[in-house]
Amino acid sequence: MLIKKSEDIKSSEITPQELYLNRRQFMLSASVTAVSAGAALAGFDLFRGASQALAAEQISNLKKSSYSTSEKQNSFKDITNYNNFYELGPDKEDPAANAKYLTPIRPWTVAVEGEVKKPKTYDIDALTKLSPLEERVYRLRCVEAWSMVIPWIGFPLNTLIKLAEPTGNAKFIQFVTLHDPKRMPGQKLPIMEWPYVEGLRMDEAMHPLTILSVGLYGQVLPPQNGAPIRVVVPWKYGFKSIKSIVKIRFVEKQPPASWNMMQPQEYGFYSNVNPEVDHPRWTQATERRIGEFLRRKTLMFNGYGDQVAQLYSGMDLKKFY
Ligand code: MTE
Repeated sequence: MLIKKSEDIKSSEITPQELYLNRRQFMLSASVTAVSAGAALAGFDLFRGASQALAAEQISNLKKSSYSTSEKQNSFKDITNYNNFYELGPDKEDPAANAKYLTPIRPWTVAVEGEVKKPKTYDIDALTKLSPLEERVYRLRCVEAWSMVIPWIGFPLNTLIKLAEPTGNAKFIQFVTLHDPKRMPGQKLPIMEWPYVEGLRMDEAMHPLTILSVGLYGQVLPPQNGAPIRVVVPWKYGFKSIKSIVKIRFVEKQPPASWNMMQPQEYGFYSNVNPEVDHPRWTQATERRIGEFLRRKTLMFNGYGDQVAQLYSGMDLKKFY
């Protein structure tokens, strides 16, 4: 996410920032400038080198999914060392360097609550056994105009939703990340309001492409990718794919979502990948696949239009960006 200018975006693509700085952004920029200074106080290391290798638990007997892309996958190194996870630091290398703080990840529970007939708090290991785990190779398109192809391991979110039996009032779902500054030292910094929250409309959450992921590349999810469980919604900008969740709340009204709350003129609630709607400060028409030199064209709905376009029929996607 862009609190500060990404190195991925050419300066020619960026509209002069002063045109867009409102008071809120100004405060945000100021707080990020203070991040480096605050990092030491927060007790974690920024701007460090490569991550330490953590012993990884393998996941076997994976079903292959027909939703997978056959495009070339990014390397495990790319996927685990170039991350956005502000709870583990604001730079791309920070989450890997600070992965060691997000431990232990057992016990871990996920509470399913709100407008449901069967609210329940699941232990993570029971949750993982609700449905056979699949490998889903998805494109992930970050709002910062870079992308990767990632072999996620997970299961459809709709499995859990059906078990919860939503009431007729359940129109949206809100997801909440763990709030624990000891394990997530970035939460000691005033970068955003903690915990990170995100939301989906009910039909988006029910869509078979939307998964809860517990692993990647044949092994359990590394901390920097959102251990032990995260959401993955492949047709939306990456920030909708919230990491390390502890709560799934069914609600009647559109719930608050972190980036949308902070900078609503830049990050909409829907945030469907859309090459026709530019971010106020840069184009969304092209992207840089991590590991490639030339930029490629961004596809509507990140290339998943055949499956998801009907969810938005009749909606003005320039208004509901
Ligand atoms: N979830 C939480 N809790 N905190 C974050 O900072 N960053 C988001 C998303 N989920 C983020 C998060 C953004 S901006 C992106 S692009 C993706 O995670 C990146 O996922 P990856 O690091 O596994 O590629």
